[in-house]
Order: sequence, then C-alpha cells, then structure tokens
Amino acid sequence: MLTIKETLEAGITEALVNVTGLGDAKAQVIYATRPEFGDYQANGVMSVAKQLRTNPRELAAKVVADINCGELLAKAEVAGPGFINLFLSTEALARRASECLQGSAELILPVSKAQTIVVDYSSPNLAKEMHVGHLRGTIIGDAIVRILEALGHCVIRQNHVGDWGTQFGMLIAHLASLSEDNKAQSNNLSDLEVFYREAKQRFDADPEFAELARSYVVRLQQGDPECLAAWQRFIGESLRHCEEVYELLGVSLKRSDLCAESFYNDDLADIVKTLDSKELLTRSEGANCVFLEEFTGKDGNPLPVIVQKSDGGYLYATTDLAAVRYRCHNLGADRVLYVVDARQSLHFKQVFAAAKLAGFARSESHLEHIAYGTMMGEDGKPFKTRSGDTVKLRDLLDESIRRAFALVSDKNADLPESDRQQIADTVGIAAVKYSELSKNRTSDYIFDWSSMLSFEGNTAPYLLYAYARIQSVLRRLEEENVTPGENIMLQAPEERALAMKILQLSDVVRQTGQDGFPNQLCLYLYELSGIFMKFYETCPILKAEADLRQSRLALAALTAQTLKRGLNLLGIEPLNRM
Ligand code: ARG
Repeated sequence: MLTIKETLEAGITEALVNVTGLGDAKAQVIYATRPEFGDYQANGVMSVAKQLRTNPRELAAKVVADINCGELLAKAEVAGPGFINLFLSTEALARRASECLQGSAELILPVSKAQTIVVDYSSPNLAKEMHVGHLRGTIIGDAIVRILEALGHCVIRQNHVGDWGTQFGMLIAHLASLSEDNKAQSNNLSDLEVFYREAKQRFDADPEFAELARSYVVRLQQGDPECLAAWQRFIGESLRHCEEVYELLGVSLKRSDLCAESFYNDDLADIVKTLDSKELLTRSEGANCVFLEEFTGKDGNPLPVIVQKSDGGYLYATTDLAAVRYRCHNLGADRVLYVVDARQSLHFKQVFAAAKLAGFARSESHLEHIAYGTMMGEDGKPFKTRSGDTVKLRDLLDESIRRAFALVSDKNADLPESDRQQIADTVGIAAVKYSELSKNRTSDYIFDWSSMLSFEGNTAPYLLYAYARIQSVLRRLEEENVTPGENIMLQAPEERALAMKILQLSDVVRQTGQDGFPNQLCLYLYELSGIFMKFYETCPILKAEADLRQSRLALAALTAQTLKRGLNLLGIEPLNRM
C-alpha cells in the first residue's frame, strides 16, 4: 500500500507524464513549506517546463486538470512560477486515522517489495571491553535494523567482531608467560582491560615479546589447539562483556548474529587466488595488493589495498572482501549496510570497488557505508577519561542512570525510591541512545550530559514525559468512565494537523529505511509531541460534547500509539508513568 506522499507522488507524476509524454518526469512532492501552500506541494513542473521550453504555469494548469489521486486529495492549485499546492481531504484523513486506531490500517505500511538486507553493526574488537567509540554504531545500527524490519524487509544482522589478529597473539603470549600462580589468579580474566594494557605495554617495549606474540598469531591461525583454547577464553570473556552491554542498552544483537572475522579465515587464500585469476593482483614490496585507478594518495601516487603481507598474513581488507562475498552470494543480500565509523570511509570505498571488480558482490547488490562521526569531549577532542583513557561503555551507562536518578528524584521527590530507580533506568539509557540517534550521524559531536538529560527540547526525557502525560490523561478520563471512541472527527485545525502528522509516520520510516538517518524519525517524534501539546491546549476533551469528547480521546490514544511505535523503532520502551 502507498503512503500519503507516495500516493501524491504517483498520481501527480502520472498526470505530468500524460500531459508531457516525458516518461522520466517526476512530480517531486514535498511537505508544504508554509501552511498557506496547503499540506504538500509538487515542485517538478518547473524543471520539466524548462526542458520543454514551455510556460511552467500553463503546464502546471494542464497537470492539475489531469490529476487523479483518489479520495485523498481535495484540491490542487497552481501557485507562484509553477508550483502545485496540494490540499488533502479532511474526511479522508479522518477515515485513515480511524482505521489506524481500529487496527484495520497500519501506522507503518510495509514496502511492496521486501529485500534481503544485511546490516553489519556494533562489530567491536574483542581484545578489549566495549568503549564509547562503539556506542554510536551499536545504537544507530540497532535502530536501522528495527526500522527495516518494521518495513517488512528480511534483515540479517551481522556482528563482525574483531577476534583475530595481532592483539590476540599479544594476549596469549602474555598469558603464557605468567607464572602458574598468576595464571590461576587471572583465571577469570575479569579485568580484560588491565590484562590488555599489560600485554600491550610489553609488546611495545620488548621486541622479543613482540616476536613471541607474532609467533602466537601464526600458531593460532594454523589451528594450534593450545593457542585456540587460550584464544577461546579471551573471546568468551570479552563476548560476555559485550552481551552485558547489549542487555543494558536494550540492543537486539544475539549470539547468533555473531559472524566474527575468524569465520572467514578459511576463505582468505581463495580471495587472494580469485583476485589473481582476475588479474587484479599486483606484487608490491613483497605484498599482494590491488591497485585501483580512482584511489590515489595526497602525492598523487596510487593507493593500494593490501590483501596479503610479505610474511603471508592477511589483513582487515582481505576479511572484508570475503565478507562481501559471503553476504552477497551466500546470504543473498540485495543491500549490505556497514554501520561503521566515518574514519573507515576510504577502506570501504576501496573494498566495495575491488569487490565489484572481482565479482565478490553481485552486480545487483548495493553496498553502503552508513558512516558516523566521532563523539568528542568538551575539549573538542575524542571523548576520554580525565587520565586520558578510553571510557568504558559500561561506566558511561552507569553514570547516565545515576544522573537520571538524581533528576527524577528532584522532580518527583514523593515517589518511592524503587519507582524512581525504575524510571531512572529507562530515562538514563534512553537519554544516551536518543542523543546519538537525534543528531545527524555524519557529523562529529560534543558529548554533553546536561543537554541529553534535559526535559526540554528534542531529548529522550521530553518524549518519554510527553508519552507518560498522554497515558495519564487517558487513565484519568477512564476513571470518569470516558473511553476513546472508534471514530476520529477532525474539526479544529489542531485536530487535523495532529492526524496528518500521525499519518506521516509511514513516510518518515520509509525515508529512514532508505538512507539510514534515524535523526529524521527523532525529529518527527519531537514535532509530533509539539503538535499534540497544541491540540491538548486548544481542544478540551472532558468538557466537549459526547461524540467530540470520544473522538478527541481517540486522537490522543492514537498519538500515544504512534509515539510508542516510533520510540520502539529507536530501541526505546516508553513508561506509562513518570
Ligand atoms: N572491528 C572494527 C573496528 O572496531 C569494525 C568492523 C566493521 N565491519 C567491517 N565489516 N569491517 O574498527
């Protein structure tokens, strides 16, 4: 089924094509930029008129005469130099809103053609605990998979964790060199972080140890049982930490979504062989490389993708080429989304280009880097602890909950402590998640407790509070035996504006599914809450006549449903009371 915007786009495009005979003409429907321009406007006539060297207003008039958008469109008008202003039918809006409430229509319409979409996200390196650098990708990725699933796509999550490579040689070498006593002590490896730091220090300071570490990597990759057993312990411990964080964050990744770097180990030789057979491989200083013309360094020299080092070892890019092949050919992906730090942009451009040339990607598979910027501290540098260490994700989340508890206690001193704690658990986590999601993901941003925990503005506390407030209105009226009706009437402009906004959820979700910018959905929910507040202030519920009262209550209930649905897509479960 088509959304409102798609219905208008299709209907007006059809008229434009009919009138001009241009098969690729597009209506270009957008939300109206000002209320006097109607609800939506079509801007496509101007460029078509230019192409045909004809008067745009006259062309627009012919298109308007030919439009058929069914019951949805009440009026279309030519405006300015050749815009078409579109006014929706209030009855049609009321009917659709009522159908959504009754459950015979859906708030989020599934796409007509479902795709298989692989989403690579979170994907931390396992030698250490998750730190703040993993936060954005984990949260944005999780919102994207939920959104794609809601649209009816078949989504395959891939947690491409780094569990293979030099760091593990280092850890194993450090473990092997400890005395039996210390080994027993470090048996639970509970502080992997400290262990990693010790190993890294030795690795950097002691060339003999570094050599030993490298030899362990080779033994590991050759399948030496002792090394494998030690490696398993590190991985097990590290995964346990990750899962704790996922659980606390309410992230939907499961063990079964794990597809680690080591999974591709046996494919790597074949990847290099295939590149060679396609004549894409060049030997440069002993290493095997792929040179692609379009990639050059600052000095103008070509930038290689190194796929095999001179000692025979494989690299990050080699594994990623194997992963592209697996995702496109074995998993049958139509799209593969990589929710990864923007600093890896060049890597992905190169991998995608090489994968296409080598046939690792099917020609119809789309490979997309969903890049995100860096989280900065107040000093404008990447976020660190005072002592300059990376901040553990777990510590950050605990702090957010602590701060939320203080805030909730301030606002609601009378609530029992356990209730306040429960609210704080939700608000603290939601605040962190929402502050990541509500910003344009491509920019770096400054992490700031006070703005994300504020009850004002486009924040999680504001939205959670707006939702809880509607719930409390519904509860209060229920006590007076007033319950929502089945039919929504739209008389006041505030009622109409609210219903229209609710019905736009589907369009926003589709857009977000296409381009992977959840901040659009956040902004939508924030605006929806604002429009609800206006409605609530201007349209009395309890004092209205019976039918109108039930209709307004129904509209409030539908708003709550919409907010909840939207927040759920962002991985946030709202509270009924706050
Ligand atoms: N483990 C990598 C890192 O922490 C991210 C992996 C992203 N996924 C991929 N297919 N390369 O930087």
